[in-house]
Amino acid sequence: MKATAVAHPNIALAKYWGKRDVAHNVPATPSLSVTLSGDGLETRTTVQFDASLERDVFVLGGVPNAEGPLSRVVGVLDEVRRLAGTTARARVESENGFPTASGLASSASGFAALVCASLAAAGVELPLADASRMARRASASAARSMLGGFVSLGTGEGEGDDPAAVEVASSGHWDLAVVVGAVTLAAKETGSTNGMRHCRDTSPYYPAWVSDAPRLFQAVRAAVLARDLSALGTAAEASALRMHACMMASDPALIYFSGATVALLAEVRALRKSGTEAYATIDAGPHVKVLTRSPDVPKVVAALGSHAVRVLVTTPGDGARLVS
Ligand code: PMV
Repeated sequence: MKATAVAHPNIALAKYWGKRDVAHNVPATPSLSVTLSGDGLETRTTVQFDASLERDVFVLGGVPNAEGPLSRVVGVLDEVRRLAGTTARARVESENGFPTASGLASSASGFAALVCASLAAAGVELPLADASRMARRASASAARSMLGGFVSLGTGEGEGDDPAAVEVASSGHWDLAVVVGAVTLAAKETGSTNGMRHCRDTSPYYPAWVSDAPRLFQAVRAAVLARDLSALGTAAEASALRMHACMMASDPALIYFSGATVALLAEVRALRKSGTEAYATIDAGPHVKVLTRSPDVPKVVAALGSHAVRVLVTTPGDGARLVS
């Protein structure tokens, strides 16, 4: 009744932002990500079902029942209990090798590791697609971290309104480097679910964002399959900046950028001007992640160093897996 799993965060190259079906957590835009490993970017989660517990216990980074994620954690455990035919409560212990809730995608790796460990601890065997759907209901980006390499997640149309992440290419397909410039180690102020709702309700750019996203998704997908960095970088930057433009046009404005975010974007553009292929993407946080070729990593690390509090070097990694 006890299992430990490891999962990595992922960075979306074509962004998911907005929900087509809020109740079932189905995205309004198709997304394509790369699962990232390296420099501590992983979550390790142990789940133990124990009939003597009165309620579920969630310990994150050594802190018991950290507020916020608990109800979504219980939601996953309830689904697993239903499948296993048990009422036993569980003790969940989770550690991130990087700052939690800061826009470094801790919810993606966190819920992917939780789904993987809790299914195994309860003795439930599910096809990977169903495990990915379970992760999606907790956090849509977590559906993608169930798989390694380059991964897409659709909007459910033609998929029974219940999409699962699918592999576009394995981690060995392309030795793309992703250099993460973390600009703060603090937690972000607006979580993605609230941010998406606010954007949908108040941003006049939201319908344009949703209708343009499938075209960018196709461009990202084709560039990944062709290992074409300049095509990928151009489409990925457009996806990130259009998503942020939609956020900034909300009322009141939703701004995840900090001064350092803008300074890092300028560094990336200066790198390109001087002949180094580097492209930026930014999630719902201030950090800048830079897509580049492996031999150019030292140049990118040096360029980000003056504005970032931490620079992490990552490459395509594996999906969620059991370690014991
Ligand atoms: O799955 P969530 O609720 O963590 O939302 C993820 C949203 C973005 O990171 C901004 C984009 C994405 O596709 O991962």
